[in-house]
Amino acid sequence: MNITKAIIPVAGLGTRMLPATKSIPKEMLPVFDKPLIQYVVEEAVSAGIKDIILITRSGKSAIDNHFNVNAELETLLAQKGKQDLLAAIKSGVPRNVSICSITQQEALGLGHAILCAKSIIGNEPFSVLLPDVLIDEHFCSLSEANLATMIRRFEKTSRNQVLVEPVPLDKIHQYGIVDCEGVSLREGEARPVKKLIEKPNKLEAPSNLSIVGRYVFDKAIWKHLSRVKPDASGEIQLTNAINSLAKKEIVEAYHIVGRSHDCGNKCGYAKAGLAYAMRDHLVGRHIEEYMHEVMLLKQKNNFLHVVNA
Ligand code: G1P
Repeated sequence: MNITKAIIPVAGLGTRMLPATKSIPKEMLPVFDKPLIQYVVEEAVSAGIKDIILITRSGKSAIDNHFNVNAELETLLAQKGKQDLLAAIKSGVPRNVSICSITQQEALGLGHAILCAKSIIGNEPFSVLLPDVLIDEHFCSLSEANLATMIRRFEKTSRNQVLVEPVPLDKIHQYGIVDCEGVSLREGEARPVKKLIEKPNKLEAPSNLSIVGRYVFDKAIWKHLSRVKPDASGEIQLTNAINSLAKKEIVEAYHIVGRSHDCGNKCGYAKAGLAYAMRDHLVGRHIEEYMHEVMLLKQKNNFLHVVNA
C-alpha cells in the first residue's frame, strides 16, 4: 500500500528555545532563509506525501498562514517584477498536496498528538515527521532521501520504520534510544528493533542509536498508542507505543544516511543555520570567510590570554 499521508506535530511549546519562542512557534524559526516547518514539509512532499496533517495548538496560526496564499504580497511582488521572491513565497506546497490542521486540545505528549489524527488517517499506513529535526540531505550520498527510502522499505516489506542516528553518550538522555540487540548498524542499513526506551540515562541505554524524528507506521500503531499509559510527567510517549508495537510486529531501525540537525535546542539550531548559510550560492563564501576571521580572532585572544596570565 502506498504511503501518501504524513503527520507533523507542531503543538509543542518550544520551551528549549525560549525566549525566541515566546510568541513565535518554534516551527517558524528560520534556518537561514526558510522556517523550519517549510524544510520538513518539503521533505515530506519530495518523499511522495500528498496529505499533510499538522497537529497544532492555539497560538500557532503563523504556521497555517505560512502555507496560505498571501494575495497582497504576491500582487506587490508581481507589480515590482520581483519574480524570484514571488516564486519563493509560492513554493510552499505544490497544488496536488493538501495541508490541514487539527488542534490538540491538551498538552498530553507526542503520542497523544499523533492519536489526534487517527480519524483522518484511518486504516492507511502513514509517516510522522517531527518538525524540530532537519534531515540534512546535503550529507546524503544516496540519490534518494532518508524518508523516501523508509517509505519504500515499508511499501516493500510492511515493516514499521524508525530513523536512527548515533549520538554521543552525554546526549543519550535527550532522545529515544533503540535496542537492536547489540548489532551495529552502518549508514543505510536497517535491523529489527527489540526494544525502545524514551530518554534513558546513559547507564540504562542499550545503545547510542537515537530516534531522529522520522517514522513510518501501519495501522497497528493506533491500538498501541491508545493503550499506552502516560509517563511520570503525564505525557503519552510515542516511543512507549512503538516499544509495545515492536513486541507484536517488526519495527525496523533505519540508520540515517548523512546527518540530522536537532533544531529543538539552541546549539543544534545555531549549527543548522550556519551549515545552510555556508552552502548558499550568494552568501556562503562570505560566511566561510567570516567564520575563518572569527576563529583567527579567537585564537589570537586565547594566545593573549595565555601571555597575559
Ligand atoms: C522526541 C521523541 C524522541 C526523539 C526526539 C527526536 O523527543 O520523543 O524519542 O528521539 O523527539 O528529536 P522530544 O525532542 O520531543 O523531547
